[in-house]
Amino acid sequence: MQRVENEIERLINECDYEEVKELFNKLSGGKRLRAKLILKIADQHKDAPLLAAIVELIHAASLLHDDIIDESMTRRGVESVNATEGSKIAVMLGDILYSKAFTELVAFDRSIAETIASSVVALSKGEMMDVKMSESFNSDEKLYLDMLYLKTATLIESATKSAALLVGKDAESYALYGRNLGISFQIIDDILDITSTEEKLGKPAMNDYVEGKCTLPYIYLYEALDGEDRVRLVAAHAQHISKKESAWIEAKMKEFGVIEKSFMLAKKLSTEAKNRMSEDPSLLLILDTMIQRSY
Ligand code: IPE
Ligand code: IPE
Ligand code: MG
Ligand code: MG
Ligand code: MG
Repeated sequence: MQRVENEIERLINECDYEEVKELFNKLSGGKRLRAKLILKIADQHKDAPLLAAIVELIHAASLLHDDIIDESMTRRGVESVNATEGSKIAVMLGDILYSKAFTELVAFDRSIAETIASSVVALSKGEMMDVKMSESFNSDEKLYLDMLYLKTATLIESATKSAALLVGKDAESYALYGRNLGISFQIIDDILDITSTEEKLGKPAMNDYVEGKCTLPYIYLYEALDGEDRVRLVAAHAQHISKKESAWIEAKMKEFGVIEKSFMLAKKLSTEAKNRMSEDPSLLLILDTMIQRSY
């Protein structure tokens, strides 16, 4: 992983702008899940650390824009760039990171460059859908999962697929592994928004529903409730709700086991991914760690 950190540092230095370096350093860290996947799959290849660095720059850019969109003031345990520098700087820093990543990508095989670049189109479409869908209560599970595939899983899928392409492994199997891992990853992220705390997450908790995001636990709760209770849940959508209202939602979520139900779907998808990767134990471990994570 040190090789990836060195590559990231080199790429940032090459942007040749002190402000970019300073702001990027503030944003450094994160779990580096996407980079770890690439290294695990393509470790023996000399360009694997660069490919991993490119994907981490893209991921960081998407977070910069995501925090503007979600009006989130905390990221990776510190104040977000939009919080301290404003949205204008955060947008442009995101654009610089995306563009630097694409500049580096052109040196790779066309199949790899296309895989990664097209996943960023998908990610952006997913983020746009997420915004649109949060304007009113969404109870459509399939639509939710389609959006989540685009906004989160496509980048992870393209990371695992392109790493496989780099070393001539079976691209389709690795793509499926990444896709399922990515969808489960976002389901877990959505669960943690409800069950965890800002200190643990390094980003706001209990924020999704306030922002209008009807994540799986809310969709399952909607399905479980009827009559006045259902009206009450929908009335709390996209509001700064009182402690009493959020305690009521939490109690109902417990009563109907909707967190467990969401978790079961993440688990099912990860089991499917596992079955395709039985010959690569370290990738199974990454999946298990991701499912069991608490931040
Ligand atoms: C956050 O991704 C955005 C989602 C797709 C949920 P990560 O949870 O991988 O963020 P970092 O890189 O570890 O901060
Ligand atoms: C994932 O969605 C963001 C991206 C794919 C860029 P979220 O909005 O849930 O991510 P967090 O929770 O802010 O990290
Ligand atoms: Mg967000
Ligand atoms: Mg978001
Ligand atoms: Mg989230």
